[in-house]
Amino acid sequence: MARPGKGSATFSGLDGLEAAARRRLSGAVWGYVAGGAGEERTLAENEAAFSRWVLRPRVGAGVREVDLSTTLLGTTVRAPFFVAPTAYHGEIHPGGERATAASTGALGLLGVYSTLSSDSLETIALASGRHPRWFQLYFQRRWKDSLALVRRAEAAGYGAVVVTLDAPVLGSRDRQARSGFAIRSSPPVGNGPGAASPPRGPEWHGGPYAPRGGDVSWQAVRRIVAATQLPVVAKGILTAEDARRAVESGVRAVYVSNHGGRQLDRAPASLDALPEVVRAVGSSAEVYLDGGVRRGSDALVALGLGARAVGLGRPVLWALAAGGQDGVGRFLRLFGSELANALLLLGRGSPHEVDGTNIAPVGSARGRPPHGPGRPSPPRSVRAR
Ligand SMILES: Cc1cc2nc3c(=O)[nH]c(=O)nc-3n(C[C@H](O)[C@H](O)[C@H](O)COP(=O)(O)O)c2cc1C
Repeated sequence: MARPGKGSATFSGLDGLEAAARRRLSGAVWGYVAGGAGEERTLAENEAAFSRWVLRPRVGAGVREVDLSTTLLGTTVRAPFFVAPTAYHGEIHPGGERATAASTGALGLLGVYSTLSSDSLETIALASGRHPRWFQLYFQRRWKDSLALVRRAEAAGYGAVVVTLDAPVLGSRDRQARSGFAIRSSPPVGNGPGAASPPRGPEWHGGPYAPRGGDVSWQAVRRIVAATQLPVVAKGILTAEDARRAVESGVRAVYVSNHGGRQLDRAPASLDALPEVVRAVGSSAEVYLDGGVRRGSDALVALGLGARAVGLGRPVLWALAAGGQDGVGRFLRLFGSELANALLLLGRGSPHEVDGTNIAPVGSARGRPPHGPGRPSPPRSVRAR
């Protein structure tokens, strides 16, 4: 948790945010927030992938006003970025998810909240006000527990269920283990005993390796789709094959993510996986992306590659650590301002106007064709990954 008594928000710009959070958190909690899986190759690649693209500004467009608003599954939000689901905000700041939700809602942005929230999903709904929130579901070992969480989310006014599919077990979180992170809140999660974390991988002793978690399968996804009127989003998709399976299973949006590099190390960077997913999905579902988005210009690259919106994971936690509710609000406003500024400098007035012609692989001056049916192949550097 953030060390008490050190004043409020301690960053003035996006560049100082991570360091401000680092100063406020214990080594153990920092290990939880910052760490990835294994050697953290995927974690590093998530950010590096954005450096492989440039933006192609169009001057003289005469854009005098930028409107960042868009719709996500039919709900209007004020900008094409959202708070990605991350567990245990109460370990990072005493304000917990209440603080995150209050700031996010006040700005008219979407917040996605984890099964493993420190506050209950009902408390988060109250803090969000009338603003959109979606519920992230980890499949529970017992189907009735998964269903009970979905029913609670429906009753509390959540607008979608985001099923996370990349965590049948937790990844090998080496840095987190080294840091000695342990949950101190009691109870550990606000949603009660029927809201368990994916299990740790069991130790292998030469026999079959069988973790005892929920059924994370396409069949389970279809069951959720059939069980609720809420739209379902599939999170953790990194391949065209799975994107197609997701759409066939009835989901309304495909969420490209590698869990912030915390699950399978050597999984591709989210941004590198985005083009093949966008191509596979076509117009049959919305596509979102998270992983390594740090600046407004990163969001533009993802939009240029066909994402409808981007999720922010660690940066929101950094802001929460650095300044609680005020810190999250400040960060989201800074991110939005930077995105609006970059959009205007790109010569566009709305996120919907950003397309493949606005970006190019580093070293190439040529843009990609605009989006639309029959989307273009990714550049070879991306395809080869
Ligand atoms: C500390 C932490 C906790 C997370 N907890 C969850 C979670 O409970 N459920 C989930 O679907 N994803 C979880 N994620 C993954 C995020 O939703 C998101 O995919 C990732 O953070 C995006 O990468 P970024 O941190 O580079 O923005 C977590 C990520 C972090 C850093």
